[in-house]
Amino acid sequence: MSLAERPSRPASPATPAQAPAVHAQAAQTVTLRHVHRTFATPAGPRAVLADVDLTITAGEIVAVLGTSGCGKSTLLRQVSGLDTPSTGEILIGETAVHGVDDRTAVAFQEPRLLPWRTIAQNVRLGLPRGTSKSAGAARVAELLELVGLTASADLRPRQVSGGMAQRASLARALARNPAVLLLDEPFGALDALTRLKMQDLLLTVHAAEPTTVVLVTHDVDEALVLADRIVLLRTVDPAADSAPDGARSVRAVIDVPGARPRDHADAELAALRTELLSGLGVPARVAGPSHTQAPHTPAPHVAAPAASDTASAAPTTSHVPTEESA
Ligand SMILES: Nc1ncnc2c1ncn2[C@@H]1O[C@H](COP(=O)(O)OP(=O)(O)O)[C@@H](O)[C@H]1O
Ligand SMILES: [Mg+2]
Repeated sequence: MSLAERPSRPASPATPAQAPAVHAQAAQTVTLRHVHRTFATPAGPRAVLADVDLTITAGEIVAVLGTSGCGKSTLLRQVSGLDTPSTGEILIGETAVHGVDDRTAVAFQEPRLLPWRTIAQNVRLGLPRGTSKSAGAARVAELLELVGLTASADLRPRQVSGGMAQRASLARALARNPAVLLLDEPFGALDALTRLKMQDLLLTVHAAEPTTVVLVTHDVDEALVLADRIVLLRTVDPAADSAPDGARSVRAVIDVPGARPRDHADAELAALRTELLSGLGVPARVAGPSHTQAPHTPAPHVAAPAASDTASAAPTTSHVPTEESA
């Protein structure tokens, strides 16, 4: 089945497991309607997001996958209100996003912790304004427990590992009690083993605090193990104005089969992985340790990647090629 043919189904949030009693605000639906974002460049206006129409169900985990520079972070910034669409609108629940929106919280690839504060104090910075001291202390303790940092509460960021710092960053984002959690390549700087642990942790966190999650990643496997759906973005082709499909940011929206936690070796996932990589311009023969022997078949419903989407040197992992690795 091609990417474009996959049927749509309602989101199925993860089943709560060992969920501590915490008090997140209710997850919200995110709706993007005809969102365009054009930037002024010396060469003239450049469309980075074009005609994005997307509804993300409350409590769903959606991965936004695409090559470096295709507009993933720009998309996330529109939802957070850190940036504003040139045209189109974004709703959280029934209300439009205008400016930085405190129903959202963002975590980035770098943990961005204040070095002179302890881990607990950094997490505390995420609390909504007006939180009482005692409620804040209880909430911080709860979140540190959730991300496994209770014993490190009084350490400074330089005293903890990259993975621990990133867990603190996640806890700080959760401290805002976001209805929508926005994650921009949150595990991208971590070693492979730590990244796998963080992916598990994200599922535990989501089960405990089932916010809507938008996860930007260029790691196909990460998208496959974590997401209910994958939004595959393409670099907008400025020459494709007359061909609406090439001029749209969203190449495909794919339902990921199977309940989480997922088995990396699942044959259906492996086939989808090959298909996704193919759609992203990575030939199947270098697509990494796929668990099926599925022959490389071009996905006929996925337009061939634009030149800027395609790596000149094929990578040996399931990461989408980046400008750096290309
Ligand atoms: N404020 C801006 N002004 C001009 N160009 C921008 C701005 N923000 C992003 N871009 C450009 O938009 C494109 C997409 O950027 P980004 O969303 O960061 O990509 P990704 O996160 O997919 O790697 C890039 O070519 C980037 O240079
Ligand atoms: Mg980015």
